[in-house]
Amino acid sequence: SRKGSALVREIRDKQSQNKSRQRFWELAGSKLGDILGVEKTAEQIDADTAEVNEEGEVNFKEDAKFAQHMKKGGEAVSDFAKSKSLAEQRQYLPIFSVRDELLQVIRENQIVVVVGETGSGKTTQLTQYLHEDGYTANGIVGCTQPRRVAAMSVAKRVSEEMETELGDKVGYAIRFEDVTGKNTIIKYMTDGVLLRETLKDAELDKYRVIVMDEAHERSLNTDVLFGILKKVVAQRRDFKLIVTSATLNAQKFSDFFGSVPIFHIPGRTFPVKTLYSKSPCEDYVAAAVKQAMAIHVQSPAGDILIFMTGQDEIEAACYSLAERMEQMAASTKDVPKLLILPIYSQLPADLQAKIFQKAEDGARKCIVATNIAETSLTVDGIFYVIDTGYGKMKVYNPRMGMDALQVFPVSQAAANQRAGRAGRTGPGTCYRLYTENAYLNELLPSPVPEIQRTNLGNVVLLLKSLKIENLLDFDFMDPPPQDNILNSMYQLWVLGALSNVGGLTDLGWKMVEFPLDPPLAKMLLMGEQLGCLNEVLTIVSMLSVPSVFFRPKDRAEESDAAREKFFVPESDHLTLLNVFLQWKEHQYRGDWCNDHYLHVKGLRKAREVRSQLLDILKTLKIPLTTCGHDWDVIRKAICSAYFHNAARLKGVGEYVNCRSGMPCHLHPTSALYGLGYTPDYVVYHELVLTTKEYMQCATSVEPQWLAEMGPMFFSVKDSDTSMLEHKKKQKEEKTAMEEEMENLRKAQAEDERRN
Ligand code: CDP
Ligand code: MG
Repeated sequence: SRKGSALVREIRDKQSQNKSRQRFWELAGSKLGDILGVEKTAEQIDADTAEVNEEGEVNFKEDAKFAQHMKKGGEAVSDFAKSKSLAEQRQYLPIFSVRDELLQVIRENQIVVVVGETGSGKTTQLTQYLHEDGYTANGIVGCTQPRRVAAMSVAKRVSEEMETELGDKVGYAIRFEDVTGKNTIIKYMTDGVLLRETLKDAELDKYRVIVMDEAHERSLNTDVLFGILKKVVAQRRDFKLIVTSATLNAQKFSDFFGSVPIFHIPGRTFPVKTLYSKSPCEDYVAAAVKQAMAIHVQSPAGDILIFMTGQDEIEAACYSLAERMEQMAASTKDVPKLLILPIYSQLPADLQAKIFQKAEDGARKCIVATNIAETSLTVDGIFYVIDTGYGKMKVYNPRMGMDALQVFPVSQAAANQRAGRAGRTGPGTCYRLYTENAYLNELLPSPVPEIQRTNLGNVVLLLKSLKIENLLDFDFMDPPPQDNILNSMYQLWVLGALSNVGGLTDLGWKMVEFPLDPPLAKMLLMGEQLGCLNEVLTIVSMLSVPSVFFRPKDRAEESDAAREKFFVPESDHLTLLNVFLQWKEHQYRGDWCNDHYLHVKGLRKAREVRSQLLDILKTLKIPLTTCGHDWDVIRKAICSAYFHNAARLKGVGEYVNCRSGMPCHLHPTSALYGLGYTPDYVVYHELVLTTKEYMQCATSVEPQWLAEMGPMFFSVKDSDTSMLEHKKKQKEEKTAMEEEMENLRKAQAEDERRN
C-alpha cells in the first residue's frame, strides 16, 4: 500500500524462486565465512547462515556473538584508520583541538551541553578526557546511549584506544548483559540501564560524571533521565552532567537545566549540494537503486550512503543493485566494482562491521542503511547520500492498543542530518527522492519525541516507585500527552499494579524490580501466587529473546516438522517451555539444537536471562515453586498478564480482540492448530503486522479465567450468580478510576492556569 513496496515485492518473489538467500549475500558482497578474516568452525558457519537465511528472524545481532566478534574483529577499520595509529587518530578528531577549553568549562560548571557534528569525537573522546582530567579518581564516568548497538561498539573502540580489555577499565551494560568489572572507570550503557540504576541508588553515588549522549534522539528513557538527573545535580555538588547533541536544538537542553553553557565543537565539514526530485517518486526503493547506479557509473570516486526504512527494503535494494551490477558486467567489461553493504540493527554484528572496512582500490562502497547511520554510526569517505525521506518510528497505535513500528516521513532536522553525512570527508551531494515542496511543507521541523508517541507503562511504574505521586508534576522537558499517561495508568491498574487511587500496590512494587514489560512481570508474579513460578520463569525468559525456531527457506518442511514435535496443543507459550525443558534434558547441548532446528544462541541467551531473573527473585526472597505436570495452572498465569490481548473466536483461525474488536489471526505456525479445533478464547503475546494481523505466541484460555481475573473487562454469560457481583465490582472500580483520572485532569488544568 505504501510507496516503495513494488520493488520489495518483486525482489522477494525472486528470492523465493532462488530458494536460498545465500545467493543474495554472495551477490551483495557479504560472503559468509569470509568476514574480517575471522576463522569459523563448522558450527558457527551453520549458525551464521541460519541467521541471515531466515526471513524476518535475523536476530542475534548483539549478544554473545557480538562479544566474540568484538574480541577478534579489529581489522574492520576505515581507510584513514589503516594509515594512522589509534593515538594519532584521536588527535585528528575535531574535539581534540578544543580539549583544554572544554575541560575548563566542565571544571567551572556542573552541567554543560556539548554540541558537535557527528563524528567529531564526542562519544569516544569525552569520557577519556574526563578520565585524563582526574574525574575517575573517585567515581565512574558513565555515558548513556539510546541504542544497544552503539553502547557496545563504542565501548569496544574506547577499550582499544585505552589499550585495555573490554570489561576491565572500559565496559558496557545493556539489559541482561553487564560487561563491566571492579576496575571499570568508564562505563557505556543504554539509557534504560541507568534509569533502572536510579531505582537502587537515587543519587547515583558511584558516578562522578554522567554523559548523556545523543540527547537529540530524545528517546523515552533519556527524556525521563533528564528530569531525574536534574535533581541529582541539585543534591550532589560533586556530580557533573554533560549532555551531548548532534544537532542545533541545544538551546532547549540548556534552558531546561537552567541556562547552562553550551559548548560548540568547531565543525570540520564541507558543503553539501542538495538536489531534489522534480516530482514525487512512485517507488522510492527503485528510485534509490537507479540513482545509486547513475552515481556509480557517472560520478567521481566517493562512497554512497542510501537511507531506507528497514530490513526488507534494504535487502531488496541490495539485491537489485547486485543484479544490475551483474548485468552490466556481462555486457560491458570495465565497470568499476561496487561493494554493496547493508546495515540495520538486526544484522549480525560481523556483517555490520563490514561497513567500516576499506574497499579494494578502484572499488566504490554503497552502504544501504536505516536511520542507524543518521547519527549513531559514522563512516568516513561518504560523498553521496541518497535520502528516500522515510524512516521507521515506534508509535502507540490506539486502535491496536500497542506500540507499532510504522513508516513515516522523516523530519527536516533528520533530513539535514542525513545530508550532512556526505560532507565529512569533502564536498558532497545529497539526492533527496522527494520534492523541495514536500521538504518545505510536508516534513515536520524536528521529530516528535518518543515520550509523546509511545506507551508509557514502564515509565509510569518507575516514576510511581520513585514516589512521584502526581505524574503531571514530573519535570518533563516535553510532557507526554495526558491521554498517554492516563491510558498507561489504566493498563497498569488493570494488571493490578496500581490501586484505585493511583498508588503502587504490593504487586506493583514487586513488578518494578524486574527489567521486564509490565505484563511479563505480572505473569511472573502470578506464577508465584499460583505455584508455578519455575515454569513461568522459563516462559518469560523465552519471550525475552528472539524466536528460537530456525526455519530456513530451503528446508521449510523439515524444520516445520521438527517444530511440530515440540507442540503443546493448547499453547505456544507452553510449547516454548517444552522446548526449553527438552533442551535441558539433553544437557543444554548445541548439536541437539541443530538437529531440532533450534537456534542454540537464542536458547543460551534465554538461559542466561532466566538465571538473572532468578537472582532478582532470590533477593526478593520469592521461592521457586513448581506445578510439576499440571500445566493448566500455567495457562492461568499467562492469562492474567494479557487481558488487553484477549481474543474471541470468529471464524476458523480468525479472532477479534475482546476489547477493541480488532481482527487478529492465528499464525500458521501456531501450536493451537494441533488442537484439532480452534478454541473460543485465546490470549496472545503480541500482534505482528505482515500480510495480516497475526497473533504472535497464543494460548487458549477458559472464559471464566478472564471473568475471574479481569472483571473490569469481561463477563461470561453462564457464570450466573457471580456475574452480577462482577458487574457491580467492575462498575465501582471503573468509577473510582475515572474519578482518579478526572482529578488528574483537574490538577493539570490548575497547573496550566497557574503557569
Ligand atoms: O560521537 P561523535 O559522533 O561525535 O563521534 P565518535 O562516535 O566519537 O567518533 C569519532 C571517530 O571514531 C569517528 O571518526 C569514527 O569513525 C571513529 N569510530 C570508529 O572507528 N569505530 C567506532 N566503533 C566508533 C567510532
Ligand atoms: Mg556519538
